[in-house]
Amino acid sequence: SQKWVLMVTAQTPTNIAVIKYWGKRDENLILAINDSISVTLDPAHLCTTTTVAVSPAFNQDRMWLNGKEISLSGGRYQNCLREIRARANDVEDEKKGIKITKKDWENLHVHVASYNNFPTAAGLASSAAGFACLVYSLAKLMNVQEDNGRLSAIARQGSGSACRSLYGGFVKWVMGKEENGSDSIAVPLVDEKHWDELVIIIAVVCSRQKETSSTSVMRETVETSALIEHRAKEVVPKRIIQMEEAIQKCDFATFTHLTCADSNQFHAACLDTSPPIFYMNDTSHRIISCVEKWNRSEGTPQVAYTFDAGPNAVLIARNRTSAALLLQRLLFHFPPNSETDLNSYVIGDKSLIEDIG
Ligand code: PMV
Repeated sequence: SQKWVLMVTAQTPTNIAVIKYWGKRDENLILAINDSISVTLDPAHLCTTTTVAVSPAFNQDRMWLNGKEISLSGGRYQNCLREIRARANDVEDEKKGIKITKKDWENLHVHVASYNNFPTAAGLASSAAGFACLVYSLAKLMNVQEDNGRLSAIARQGSGSACRSLYGGFVKWVMGKEENGSDSIAVPLVDEKHWDELVIIIAVVCSRQKETSSTSVMRETVETSALIEHRAKEVVPKRIIQMEEAIQKCDFATFTHLTCADSNQFHAACLDTSPPIFYMNDTSHRIISCVEKWNRSEGTPQVAYTFDAGPNAVLIARNRTSAALLLQRLLFHFPPNSETDLNSYVIGDKSLIEDIG
């Protein structure tokens, strides 16, 4: 019959890089020029919820993002859909009397509805949560028998940073060596319980959408900045080793030093791009000064900051006490009604929740 619909809903949190990915060596497969490390947030806060549905009544693949239909014709969506479809298996739902064979998937179409509970494309890594969730929910719907590492290589082809959202806790995206990207995957470093004292506070300085996609800016950086090559070859490989060790040891001083330095170098490479790119604004700079001053006056660092492709600050506090003090300080300097909203989050305790219905 043409009447049945089979659906899967999944929820995926975003992740924030502490050692940044910036620059691709292959734009189609999305292969990075350096390894990166991130922390996955709790899905209760910044996450994408995606429902994927299949029915013989659907005559084309369609997708809605935050209630508005978007085109699936772009290469990134097509790559993810193709890779998942190629791995589809038989699906049987006895209660509903549905039987889909491996072969059927070639002719069946999907509808996708995705919601972000945070501003889309404002430098809060919405594409990371979005593509990770799309790939994960499609894989569940089509009964794909691959582990999260293999799924991460598919999510990577949607958005590089998305591969890191397939796991909770701290995650490394290994750039890999293979030309086909098979070894460019996410690897979990430690789970969310390992360093559960940390508190993440996001200061939403501006929730407006970015004007240019990160892909075109990355390309310009790789083509015009001498700093980015030095960074990828000489700086990041050492930082990755040091960061992994700091995370293993819960060494907050080293963690803060590396996180802040890496954010600053990423933004320096943006400034070194021709034409230069400014992601941070005056408020972002004031937040950096405020945190730097406080960390220095305390003797030991209390808070690390990092900024992605936008002006919003991600602040990682040593523990709840430092987080509370940080909020007081920030509220003093940026009172409510100013343009800055403060929200606090904890590290993700579960990277994915599924509910098959
Ligand atoms: O995956 P993209 O194309 O959204 O790029 C993300 C780049 C940064 O967020 C700036 C850094 C990172 O590693 O997430």
